[in-house]
Amino acid sequence: VAPFAPRDERPGFRDRGVYLVTGGLGGIGLAMAERLARDHAARLVLMGGSLPPREEWESLLARSSLPAGLRRRLDGVTRIVEAAGEVEVVPGDVADEADVAAAVRTAIERFGRLDGVLHAAGVPGDGLLQLKHREDAERVMAPKVHGVRSIEAAVAGLDLDLVVLFSSITSFTGGGPGQADYCAANAFLDAYAHDAMARGVARQVVSVSWCEWTWNAWSDGMKAFDPAARSFFEANRACFGLSFEEGWGALARAIASGQAHIAVSTQDLDKMAELSVHFRTDTVGTSVRPDAVRHERPDLPSPYVAPEGPVETAIAELWAAALGLTEIGATDDFFELGGNSLLGVDLVSRLRKQFERPELPPRVLYEAPTVREFADRMAGLGPSGAQALVEVVT
Ligand SMILES: NC(=O)c1ccc[n+]([C@@H]2O[C@H](COP(=O)([O-])OP(=O)(O)OC[C@H]3O[C@@H](n4cnc5c(N)ncnc54)[C@H](OP(=O)(O)O)[C@@H]3O)[C@@H](O)[C@H]2O)c1
Repeated sequence: VAPFAPRDERPGFRDRGVYLVTGGLGGIGLAMAERLARDHAARLVLMGGSLPPREEWESLLARSSLPAGLRRRLDGVTRIVEAAGEVEVVPGDVADEADVAAAVRTAIERFGRLDGVLHAAGVPGDGLLQLKHREDAERVMAPKVHGVRSIEAAVAGLDLDLVVLFSSITSFTGGGPGQADYCAANAFLDAYAHDAMARGVARQVVSVSWCEWTWNAWSDGMKAFDPAARSFFEANRACFGLSFEEGWGALARAIASGQAHIAVSTQDLDKMAELSVHFRTDTVGTSVRPDAVRHERPDLPSPYVAPEGPVETAIAELWAAALGLTEIGATDDFFELGGNSLLGVDLVSRLRKQFERPELPPRVLYEAPTVREFADRMAGLGPSGAQALVEVVT
């Protein structure tokens, strides 16, 4: 994307531009703000959360006992100032129209204008839908659903370049168990972006449905999963999460696209959406559907190597059934074959249950992503695991 675009062309970020970042002290929001300061000497209003008075920062940062979250925030805001950015931190609730109006006023009074909004405020959803109270869901929906409405009211008439909404691919996949409200909130953002773009809320309104980033601020949001699944998803985030550089690059491309809705996924999104239909708490362990249609092994960079011996053959058959393929080579990579986190957590859960191998580490697919490596890991568990595997499959 062009680093600067004049008003009558598609806007990117402006040098010395003025941006409001909601959730601006959060993991992604603050990192975006830092990059805007570094690359564009942006002037920023960070909304949501508060910081101690400026004169206390030095002594606070010198304390080794300073909580990591506060240290990250103080360090981030300090770096913005050092990068020639200018910054105001404004507390408030993005779901509250008066609070957002106050943040926008701060931008106008301090910097003379506002060029864009990055709406990154959000809270994770957790807990099964059946056990949720209305207020639980409202807490998750509010920053997104009421948030965009408050932003729209506050920026009316300001002729903004852009409004970027931070959504999630859960709006495609439905998310995991416990994420119904989070999924709905993000789906609302995606739909809203089309409508807001058509109504001219800004020259560009884009909702970006992100896959996971490497930030792990939301591990509490996975309370709905059992410890094995949680550990698997943590490994998945480490393996497939977007780095900041990748996310920043994807953001630039999303803005340059001119589209109202862009999904950013490191994995095959259609496949994830398709598989997620089966991903419920009561169906984890049903990835292997013997009656499902099988497809030929896709073309891979590595040649087909036939599995050897009963253990490799048994594992290959299980993986093939889970992936809907007729055959799998011993050195094929699970993830190159179209495997993904939803399928992986299901498959490992099945292996753990059916082969009575609770010691099988949930992250094993990341450490041993080929049948051969997986078989070696199974062999390392002792004879019973491999034997059970052979017995069940044959
Ligand atoms: N991280 C990911 O992997 C990922 C993936 C897909 C999409 N996203 C989306 O990206 C956005 C940022 O995620 P993140 O990882 O940076 O999360 P984060 O670290 O938890 O940051 C979110 C920020 O939003 C603030 N916030 C929450 N509710 C608010 C409200 N009503 N008013 C004002 N501020 C509010 C939070 O403030 P407090 O800390 O004070 O509560 C927090 O600083 C979220 O919208 C999320 O849905 C993230």
